[in-house]
Amino acid sequence: MENVDMGRTLNTLLVQQEGGVAVITFNRPRQLNAMNMEVMAELEDALLWAARERSVKGVILTGSGEKAFIAGADIVMFRDMDAVTGRDFAIAGERISRLIEDMPKPVIAAVNGYCLGGGSEVALACDMRIASENAVFGQPEAKYGIMPIWYGTKRLPQIVGMGRAREIIMTCRMVKADEAERIGLVNKVVPLADLMAEAMAMMNAVLANSPLGVAYAKRAMTLNWDLDLEHAGEVERDLGAVLYATADKNEGVAAFVEKRKPEFKGR
Ligand code: COA
Repeated sequence: MENVDMGRTLNTLLVQQEGGVAVITFNRPRQLNAMNMEVMAELEDALLWAARERSVKGVILTGSGEKAFIAGADIVMFRDMDAVTGRDFAIAGERISRLIEDMPKPVIAAVNGYCLGGGSEVALACDMRIASENAVFGQPEAKYGIMPIWYGTKRLPQIVGMGRAREIIMTCRMVKADEAERIGLVNKVVPLADLMAEAMAMMNAVLANSPLGVAYAKRAMTLNWDLDLEHAGEVERDLGAVLYATADKNEGVAAFVEKRKPEFKGR
């Protein structure tokens, strides 16, 4: 994997690229990759770079070390936070979530250990979550007198169901990898040593398809998550109609008829 020069120094993240896949690694292992304002600013820049860089076709987020993906927001930071700075902090995290969710490229979380609080909320914004066997999920905010933000109260119920989400958020209990897989919080659990290879394999399975078909379907799923049928149909029809006018549609259909692999151009 090659280190990427994003044109700025990064203190808390590693940004690397292998072929079309950008790997963004949270890199504060001594603090279990807890997120402070510096991490958030750097992550926002890295996601903006990944979204606009044409050679990047997909993004994997992971944590450095063998213990944590992200052990939550940096709790020390909360000491000096008041209602105004707390609200700004929420808005900054929402921006990051939206960058992930609105990116017309697949984003996979490779969860390699603790995935708590804000870490869980970042993972929930990703398209897919693959976890190592030692991964532990949780929303422990209420332990500190605060609550999940960054859309955690919206996405966790959408992904695991309201009953389970209420239990996870209100008891603050930890959810281990096997349970996370059972309740649909993660797509797959694999040994830690295989995590990045499996995340790459999952990414390559996505990248084998038309990037436009994938991007528009992602957009439709995001928009349609809580739309009524009438509006959901409209989103699908309009995005779907554009796809019929693309070279990728012609290529995908021609490749099937000619019994060969398609070569998509994203056009
Ligand atoms: N914010 C700031 N620092 C954190 C942190 C966080 N969210 N999570 C871990 N750290 C720091 C610890 O303070 C410790 O620092 P130190 O070595 O200077 O004392 C270091 O990371 C290692 O953590 P430690 O607690 O020693 O590891 P552990 O294996 O015993 O426990 C956890 C791991 C994740 C169970 C524990 O660190 C924890 O509960 N962290 C808080 C997680 C959390 O509630 N996050 C959500 C916040 S809303």
